[in-house]
Amino acid sequence: MEKALSKTWSERFDKGLNPFIEKFNASIEFDICLLEEDLDGSIAHARMLGIQGIITKEEALRLENGLQQIRKEASDGLFQPVISDEDVHFAVEKKLIDLIGPVGKKLHTGRSRNDQVGTDLRLWLRKRIDEIDMDLVRLQKSLFLLAEENLYTLIPGYTHLQRAQPLSLAHHLLAYIEMAQRDRNRLKDVRKRVNISPLGAAALAGTSISISRKITSSELHFQGIYSNSLDAVSDRDFVVEFLGASSLIMAHLSRLSEEVILWASEEFAFIQLTDRCATGSSLMPQKKNPDVPELVRGKSGRVFGHLQAMLTMIKGLPLAYNKDFQEDKEAIFDSVKTVKNSLIAISILFEEGLIFRKERLNQAVSSDFSNATDVADYLVAKDIPFREAYQLVGRIVKTSLEEGILLKDIPLERWKTFHKFFEKDIYEKLLPSSAVSYTHLRAHETGRIAYSRLCFKKKTGGGGGGGGGGGG
Ligand code: ARG
Repeated sequence: MEKALSKTWSERFDKGLNPFIEKFNASIEFDICLLEEDLDGSIAHARMLGIQGIITKEEALRLENGLQQIRKEASDGLFQPVISDEDVHFAVEKKLIDLIGPVGKKLHTGRSRNDQVGTDLRLWLRKRIDEIDMDLVRLQKSLFLLAEENLYTLIPGYTHLQRAQPLSLAHHLLAYIEMAQRDRNRLKDVRKRVNISPLGAAALAGTSISISRKITSSELHFQGIYSNSLDAVSDRDFVVEFLGASSLIMAHLSRLSEEVILWASEEFAFIQLTDRCATGSSLMPQKKNPDVPELVRGKSGRVFGHLQAMLTMIKGLPLAYNKDFQEDKEAIFDSVKTVKNSLIAISILFEEGLIFRKERLNQAVSSDFSNATDVADYLVAKDIPFREAYQLVGRIVKTSLEEGILLKDIPLERWKTFHKFFEKDIYEKLLPSSAVSYTHLRAHETGRIAYSRLCFKKKTGGGGGGGGGGGG
């Protein structure tokens, strides 16, 4: 029977770990998510050892077959590491030795868990970035379809949450497509720095064994290799960058959610929630609650928190690897899950969870003073200086408010008393649709560009970057 610790530690240790500390130290409960990538990385490493003649070709093949066997057993639910395995890297190595015998002990030649974990994490994140790109495209599509249907639906536009000017609903929705596009571009840029291989840096100083970093890097479709081995094993900038990009995605989703929540309220009543995405109250039978956007708005804080945690985690660390880095996994895993689920939930909400109440929107844009700027513009077109027109219209609005009438209900004789330049055509100018006629065109144009960007190509593995988009 082996001593508790002799599993992988050297003969330097006499006693086993305190059981509480063993569990405290272990990451296997969460880093098992990296299994696929750990196997991929180890296979690339084993092949390279064979090619370089560090082990024989036959040994390399046996390592590779053993690693593939672990993949198969894992998919059949037969690979179940335990706490004493510590982490996914040790669990795989131990299992490999169990499966193929002493030759399995050659796998870790010229490698450390420090460069191994960095490799695994980068491979994992690269895939997830490509998936998030697809999720962002789905959101863009769902918004675009609604925008296309609602080019001529008007909605009040706000500044300071005060009615400002009417807008095409398409114009409003397309703003979020633009944000999603910038989110995609940011991820694409982060991906370039995720896609660099740290493998070969070993613990911190490289190795005297004649490994080839080029071979492992190209096997794993990385786009480059770290230049400095200390940097390779202690860089977590890419984690922070990814969480920064993810935080902005969540901030955008949270703003959109907030609008949906407001729109669904009795006070706005711009949308009706369908039964697909709304829940009821356990007490009040009349209620239909916007849980989906509320949850997304609430979840945004998790991702911002992980970003803060990672900045704090790295800020005082001396070179090179420190165990603090083990904390990066849960931050990334939880953020990826949160971002992906939120994107999908909001896409479903826009696909089938809400209906715009056009009669309410129409009523909203026709019963306020959001056409006041258009009256000023009317006078400007007749060569009245803007500031003068602005002052005059302010006075007209004030009197109308006192008299409880809307601009569209002021009789022409009354308009004439305000300024002799007012003619019958002022009524046309007061229509909300005339106020937005120019934005229709803009929204249409933005939409066309956004739509063409949706023609994306799916890429897998190392090359290029997920999505990308054709451009308008
Ligand atoms: N589980 C560890 C982590 O996630 C793997 C690397 C351990 N390296 C070490 N020198 N103890 O960071």
